[in-house]
Amino acid sequence: MATETPAQDVYAPAPGVVAQANIKSYAEVAQQAEHDLAGFWAERAEEFVWYKKWDKVLDDSNPPFYKWFVGGKTNVVANCLDIHQTTWRRNKLALIWEGEDGDLRTFSYHALNREVCRFANVLRSMGVQKGDRVTIYMGRVPELPIAMLACAKVGAVHSVVYGGFSVDALASRIEDSESHVAITCDGGYMNGKIVELKKIMDEALKRCATVEQVIVVKRSGQPVTMESGRDYWYHDLMNLPVARANNGGYKCSTEEMDAEDPLYLLYTSGTTGKPKAILHTHGGYMVGIATTLKWVFDIKEDDRWWCAADPGWVTGHSYIVYGPLLLGATSFMYEGAPTYPYPNRWWSMIEKYGINILYAAPTAIRGLMRFGEAWPNRHDLSSLRLLGSVGEPINPEAWRWYYRVIGKERAPIMDTWWQTETGMFMITPLPVTPLKPGSATKPFPGVEADVLSEEGKPVAEGEEGYLVLKKPWPAMLRTIYKDPERYVQQYWRKFPGAYFTGDSARKDRDGYFWIIGRVDDVIKVSGYRLGTAEIESALVSHPAVAEAAAIGLPHEVRGNAIHAYVLLRTGHEPSEQLNDELRQHVAHEIGPIARPEKINFVNGLPKTRSGKIMRRVLRARALGLPEGDLTTLED
Ligand code: PRX
Repeated sequence: MATETPAQDVYAPAPGVVAQANIKSYAEVAQQAEHDLAGFWAERAEEFVWYKKWDKVLDDSNPPFYKWFVGGKTNVVANCLDIHQTTWRRNKLALIWEGEDGDLRTFSYHALNREVCRFANVLRSMGVQKGDRVTIYMGRVPELPIAMLACAKVGAVHSVVYGGFSVDALASRIEDSESHVAITCDGGYMNGKIVELKKIMDEALKRCATVEQVIVVKRSGQPVTMESGRDYWYHDLMNLPVARANNGGYKCSTEEMDAEDPLYLLYTSGTTGKPKAILHTHGGYMVGIATTLKWVFDIKEDDRWWCAADPGWVTGHSYIVYGPLLLGATSFMYEGAPTYPYPNRWWSMIEKYGINILYAAPTAIRGLMRFGEAWPNRHDLSSLRLLGSVGEPINPEAWRWYYRVIGKERAPIMDTWWQTETGMFMITPLPVTPLKPGSATKPFPGVEADVLSEEGKPVAEGEEGYLVLKKPWPAMLRTIYKDPERYVQQYWRKFPGAYFTGDSARKDRDGYFWIIGRVDDVIKVSGYRLGTAEIESALVSHPAVAEAAAIGLPHEVRGNAIHAYVLLRTGHEPSEQLNDELRQHVAHEIGPIARPEKINFVNGLPKTRSGKIMRRVLRARALGLPEGDLTTLED
């Protein structure tokens, strides 16, 4: 949990960074945005290609169903790739990729565009059309961004499922999206092992009937079953005549999209067992993510930017794939684990590729910190100008280590608070912002954040409350796919007129925000977001389990670890073996990240009279804290 910083522990921005910052005064831009929100974002949107300019910047006539750049026509890919083909940037590196096994692949803007065009032609030839959903379940290979961009180019809506998820999680996401086409890999490398992606896809497809065609990228080379008439190799399709345009070249037209047309679905965990698909659009999303990336990470034309997230999460969508390409930047992407084969892997790649900006999760920093300073100290990290953090609160100890050992006290840390739902950074420093370790500092210009009490009143300075956002922003989610009522219920009902984030926070006397953590039934494990209900439903799908409850307890490296409480069915006895089996069962159903740290066999679970499990009581008991109001407890 983040704690208040003493006044002397404020890190002034480095003069060198300030001198060349894209934004020199936070106050100036924040004021401009406050006075004229629509004008502020319109000015940012002018920087992009629009097939047709918008009629209205913000339509707020039907809250919370806000619309941005209404009437505007564009396509995010027109701005990520098409525009760079006619300038010198066609020769600039768009993507540098290193495989876990040391493979290196690079793509200029020209080469990336060519591959995206080829694959977009393939998708069109398979009947993929504007509005169709396509599920992407792959390892971290360049074909993942290529697939996403190709979908967007033809107007299809991609639904990327994180490659660390397993059968049940994948099946439920495919089913909900009703995809006809799925794209996967034979296997993916992770930590020296192969994740059997195609096999997991095959198993998932037994549970969902919509998928008619599966495209398989060859990465690991291990044998896989290819179902005739359903499964096709990516490399075969890419070499077919259909991958070419009529004139024989690798060209493909970019579909003209309405600013509000959907770009992608991204499933995320919420308070019920059913994952919800967050829907993002072409127009506003593009403007929001490009502006935030340019201003917060101060991207320059000759920078090498590394967002070390997984492309399967929102961080990867916004800041590995779309954001950097919108800015014409050079982005680095790495396939594997930070410690493979040794704990200097990240540092050696920073040196090798001359990375200027590193954006990573606190859990990775803490994990690498454990191995000591000698590993990073063996490498020249002097190319680093800025650092970033995302996904969970960064504890001041890890912040200071990151700042001192990796950034050499020269590179400020941009601690960016945001969510799958927000699409873009919301509370974040700019390079000119004085920093306090553990605080995400202030709202991005145009963003209004506040901390409210249960009654919806702003809490006093330094007091904990619910974090809300009081104004719409262009990259905001538009709805939950197929469930607008849940969108309203989940985010807009608790505090009328404000978006409820699900987080608790504090605001200090300087207006700095300190994020404390989730207040709903979401657990952040290594920055990954998991719902307690998803874990519980995986547990009760095991024949030995009658009831289950999952909670998050603090963990030194992962931030939180999952602890499960399990009530067995009659005829089953607790044992070491069953304990392992249940942990493995959850990993098999959801994915290894969801594997409980510990299973506790119990005789009963604390419940309300209406039968809702009181996880806070379990948590308090496990941590030895006061258990609070127990009057609603059934037993
Ligand atoms: O609890 C907050 C935490 O991550 C949640 C959003 O998770 P997700 O949708 O998976 O997106 C993660 C990547 C944007 C938030 O509700 N969170 C994210 N960034 C921070 C954070 N908590 C504290 N500090 C952050 N910088």
